[in-house]
Order: sequence, then C-alpha cells, then structure tokens
Amino acid sequence: MSKKILVLPGDGIGPEIITEAHRILDWVIADSGVAIEVEEGLVGGISYDVHGEPLTAETLKAAQASDAVLFGAIGGPKWDGTVAYDKRPEQGLLDLRKGMNAFANLRSAVCFPALADASSLKREFIEGLDILFVRELMGGVYFGEPRGIETLEDGTRVGLNTQRYADWEIERVARVAFEMARKRGSHVTSVEKANVMESGVLWREVVTKMGADEYPDVKLDHMYADNCAMQLVKNPKQFDVIVTDNLFGDLLSDAAAMLTGSLGMLPSASLSDEGPGLYEPIHGSAPDIAGQGIANPIAAILSLAMALRYSLDMGGYAEKIEAAVANVLESGTRTVDIMADGCTKVGTTGMGDAILAELSK
Ligand code: NAD
Ligand code: IPM
Ligand code: MN
Repeated sequence: MSKKILVLPGDGIGPEIITEAHRILDWVIADSGVAIEVEEGLVGGISYDVHGEPLTAETLKAAQASDAVLFGAIGGPKWDGTVAYDKRPEQGLLDLRKGMNAFANLRSAVCFPALADASSLKREFIEGLDILFVRELMGGVYFGEPRGIETLEDGTRVGLNTQRYADWEIERVARVAFEMARKRGSHVTSVEKANVMESGVLWREVVTKMGADEYPDVKLDHMYADNCAMQLVKNPKQFDVIVTDNLFGDLLSDAAAMLTGSLGMLPSASLSDEGPGLYEPIHGSAPDIAGQGIANPIAAILSLAMALRYSLDMGGYAEKIEAAVANVLESGTRTVDIMADGCTKVGTTGMGDAILAELSK
C-alpha cells in the first residue's frame, strides 16, 4: 500500500522553504522506488484568505488520513489584528496539532561541526552540542480554560490565560522524554517553575515518580525554567534531553536554535501515540525576509528527514539527508543567516540545489 504525505506550505517563507523540502522528497521517492503519494494543501493565512478558516475540516481530515504532514510556517502582519482571534493563522496550527493529537514536540538542537563558528557563543561551548527538547504541545497555557479578555464591573479589562496540566498529560510527554533519553545520553532534565506554579509542582512530582519507578537507569534532574534559560547560554552541553511544558518549550527551543547558528536550522517532529506525525521547522513565516528567496530551508529539509525516520520507516534516507546537509555545510555553502568569511552565499533554491547535488553523488 502506498504511503501518503500531506504538504502544507503555509505563509511567508513557508512556501519557499517547503519547495526545497518537496524537491528532496521527490528525490527520495525516485531513488527509493517507494510509493509515496504527495498531496498539497492550504493552512494558515492563505487558507483563511481562500476559505475563511485557517484550517478547514477537509485539510484536517487529509492530515489525519496521511502518514505524515510536512508543515512550513504560518502567520504574518497581513492577518495580525485584522482577523478574528479564533481565525488567525496561528490558530490553524494549534488546531492541526490538537486534531492530530500531537502532544510530544521533539526539537533537536544539534550543532553541525561546520557551523561551530556561526553561533553567537564561542566554538568551545557549542561544538558537539546535541540537545533534544521534548516540548509538551497540546496543553498548558496555550489551551487552558478559562481564557479570554474580560471587562469587570468597574471597567477594568483583564486578559486571562490558564496554565493547566493533568497528571496524564505530564506522564505521556515525560514517557517520550525518558524513552528518547535511553536511546541517547540517558539524561533527562525536567524543566518547570515549581517554585511559583502549582502546575510545576505536579509536573515535578509526576516526572520524579516515573523516573524512579520506570526509568531508574536514566539520570533525572530538575531545573527551574529561568535557570534553564541561563544554563543554555552558559553551558549548553550539560543537557541531553530537556522535557518541559508548552510555553517554556517554545521559548527555550528558540534560544537553543541560536546555539546551532540560526533559527533556520531547527527541525521538529510533533508526535502522537499513534497516527501520523506533524513535521515542522520551529521557526515562523519570517515576514522580514519573505519573498526574497534568502530563507534557510535546512530546518524544513531536516523536518522531512524526521518524517522519514519517525513516520515512514525510512530512517536510512533520513540519515542520507542529514549527512548531505552536513557535507554541504562543510563545503562552505551558506544561506545568509549562517554566512561566514570564505564561504559561498546562496539563496533558498541554491541551498536546495546543493543538498540535492550532494544526495545524487
Ligand atoms: P520568525 O521565526 O518568523 O522569525 C524570527 C527571526 O528569525 C526573523 O528575523 C527571521 O527572518 C529569522 N528566521 C526565521 N526563519 C528563518 C529561516 N528559515 N532562515 C533565515 N532566517 C529565519 O518569528 P517572528 O518574526 O516572531 O514571527 C513571524 C510570524 O510567524 C508571526 O506571525 C508568528 O506568529 C509566526 N510564527 C509561526 C510559526 C510556525 O508557523 N510554526 C512559528 C513561529 C512564529
Ligand atoms: C512554534 C510557534 C507556535 C507556537 C505558534 C505560531 C502557534 O511559535 O511553533 O514554535 O507557539 O507553538
Ligand atoms: Mn515558537
């Protein structure tokens, strides 16, 4: 039976970077002979413009019926403040994650040797860096009720969001982190703010119990999120797997992206217990550079590699793509965000060309 990938380019640089990932996917299909059906759809602002919804029921259905979804990026100034809050592009992504039951977001911050000097930190701090974030993706303050903007009797306006975690939500994401750690450095750092938030107290309790009962072989430590932000910049190589909530995971992974040289380098996999995975670069639609053909497509291409590994049972091709990216970077081919002295500057398509050429060798 043939496999199916739904490609959702989205807005801004989304279509630019996904075009390159799509070309790599076409190469994988041709090279492997595996029957993979590729369908394209709309999500985010473009879907709102066409259908009045950032994610239509049909697109969600197509996502649920596929083996993997490759997602670009959504959002932009065009829709900021001009569309109803529940119809904004970002809501389309949140609904897609929820509709796919994608509760575990794996964000992998790896420093490619060739980029050790592209980071804003000194080489010695990031050479060999390999952190896996396991970000809870379906709960917390992103989804907690009550929420909204209320006007009190005295006219005071209140913006309200609720941080909320059930024990089972913490358990299922912690399990992913422990399982991943067993395949890597056997070290989990659980991050919350148990010092000021009850949701953090429960988080720490649940993770501690699971570690002791089921994963005594995995080293577990706990860190407050503010300290974690500082430690990521001070000594990032102390981390192996970081498990944290939806909001802290969002913030900390963007910070960690810069350790690898650019936000344009970090791929992610958003996984459920069963069913298709959602694969998305961690960056956004980058309105400041959209339409210029200069965005770095590597995060999107590495997200495709994750899709091949986790959803299509084609781990060998994931490794090929990752090796091709490493070699292209080694050869000095760079998009502007990771440009360095003595390297050759290319645009989005040029980077795709170079990776394809490397794969075809
Ligand atoms: P952003 O991630 O789009 O951009 C932040 C900075 O990183 C910008 O300077 C941008 O040029 C740069 N950058 C991002 N991706 C890059 C790439 N591939 N190559 C080179 N440079 C890159 O974040 P933002 O500016 O805060 O948000 C812009 C829009 O994107 C907003 O509407 C936001 O809601 C949305 N957003 C979407 C996602 C997503 O689709 N997953 C993620 C984050 C933000
Ligand atoms: C990300 C983004 C999203 C998030 C937004 C666009 C909904 O920042 O994927 O990191 O906050 O999860
Ligand atoms: Mn983010």
